[in-house]
Amino acid sequence: MTDLRILAASFFISASSAAAECSIPHFQLPPSDPNTTTFELSLDYPAAGSELDSFSTETDFRSDWMGYLNEVLAYAFEGNLENDFVVQDNSIRSWFHTPWLHAGHSGREYVHGLTRERSSRPNELQNGVDAFFQNWGVGFYNEAAAGTLGAIWTDFCNPSVDALADVDFPEGSVSFKVLFTAASEAEIDALEGAPTWTAHIHTQGPPCRREDPCPREERTVTLLQIDVAIKDRRATDTGWVFGTFVYDKRLSHLAPWERLVPISIGWGNDPEVEPEEPLFENIINEDFDGVFFGWDARPHMGWNGRANGPVDNPISSCVSCHGTAQFPRSDTFANILPSRLTLTDSEIRRVYFQNIRGGSLFDPDVVPRPPFQSDLVVPVALDYSLQTQLGLEQLCFAWIDSRPPFDTVASKPAVCPSRQPEAESLAAFRTMGLTEAQMAPLERFLGDIRDEPVSKDNN
Ligand code: HEC
Repeated sequence: MTDLRILAASFFISASSAAAECSIPHFQLPPSDPNTTTFELSLDYPAAGSELDSFSTETDFRSDWMGYLNEVLAYAFEGNLENDFVVQDNSIRSWFHTPWLHAGHSGREYVHGLTRERSSRPNELQNGVDAFFQNWGVGFYNEAAAGTLGAIWTDFCNPSVDALADVDFPEGSVSFKVLFTAASEAEIDALEGAPTWTAHIHTQGPPCRREDPCPREERTVTLLQIDVAIKDRRATDTGWVFGTFVYDKRLSHLAPWERLVPISIGWGNDPEVEPEEPLFENIINEDFDGVFFGWDARPHMGWNGRANGPVDNPISSCVSCHGTAQFPRSDTFANILPSRLTLTDSEIRRVYFQNIRGGSLFDPDVVPRPPFQSDLVVPVALDYSLQTQLGLEQLCFAWIDSRPPFDTVASKPAVCPSRQPEAESLAAFRTMGLTEAQMAPLERFLGDIRDEPVSKDNN
């Protein structure tokens, strides 16, 4: 072999092992028992632009919202239910995951690829049940959406900056997510008879902090909620329809996985609607009043009656949280009203419940958090995909922490903001000109967020 060929061969080995380190399926290795089936990622994305499978229906989500959502659920379940959501075994249509959700304390577990979601607070799942419960979920994208993901993730160690400049999922893109809770039917009455999975999750209920060891163990988790998101041009204000299903034990004549009923739908944020006035872009299934909402700790599903599910924060909604999808994420506003920030109802609506067209930015003036360089960067809009946001974030954290493969591969992923020079104080930069009262609510955003839970919010 000539020197050149040796060089080329060694480059190939390091490039491909780096790629493998950038598409790791799970956070912690499974036991080396050959009989244990373990989660594998479906990342073999199709080329965009070709004939890709997409969802379409004549059913109008405004006039028949439950009919619409039930069609989406049937589409999402077809070929997946019988394979326990091992989407690679689906012989009817292809489904895909997103990379880089293995990293961090909340990273994918090895049985089903679940990531840790927002924890349920005391009394949220059921009035009088005074405990924290951890929740875990796994999401999938259909083929139409995967064409867009493939254009972004041409290289799992270095996503395409060009593709990220113009993220626009095509019509008929669908994503869905199955969410399980560590609460059991013995603890939460509504879960009686619900399907269960085994998952390798945290031993403790409250969220794990960065400094905690956060040990995991195999435990039983129970199906609580299923989320769907559909790119539908009839949703003229946002481009997206978000819907959620809950387990309904009252349907005991059906098989457990068929006992799923729509609880809410939203295709906008109703930014003009005053409190107590009827909403136009959000609908809740009142049949679950007293089952999944309707008491002090959980008065409604989402903020002032907007769409959300039982796992979600009652001061947010599907559309408002997903509308913040951009990279870097908004440091100043986060994706939800920070608990210590007091705003009037109309201020909240102006910031968090504006209707954002896919492709527009929630916070154009974003400044990256430490440990990244505090210069203003040009953020990219991610068209409501928060898994893409998290994946990019985890990739950049791995680079800045020199975790594999960035312990040997020196090059910075082009999308990541630069490293912060030692002496620079981001806090000083960010808070120039702010009074002490204005500072207080911002404090929690000024810290380093590496290894915070991959969850919906940390309020
Ligand atoms: C406060 C924030 C927040 C709220 C509210 C929220 N989500 Fe999400 N959602 C996330 C985050 C963060 C992710 C990515 C990580 C993950 O999969 O858990 C996500 C992921 C998803 C995904 C996978 C595709 C994607 O966009 O990343 C779907 C589908 C989804 N959510 C639907 C919903 C629906 C439907 C609702 C309302 C019932 C909802 N979400 C409410 C934060 C939120």
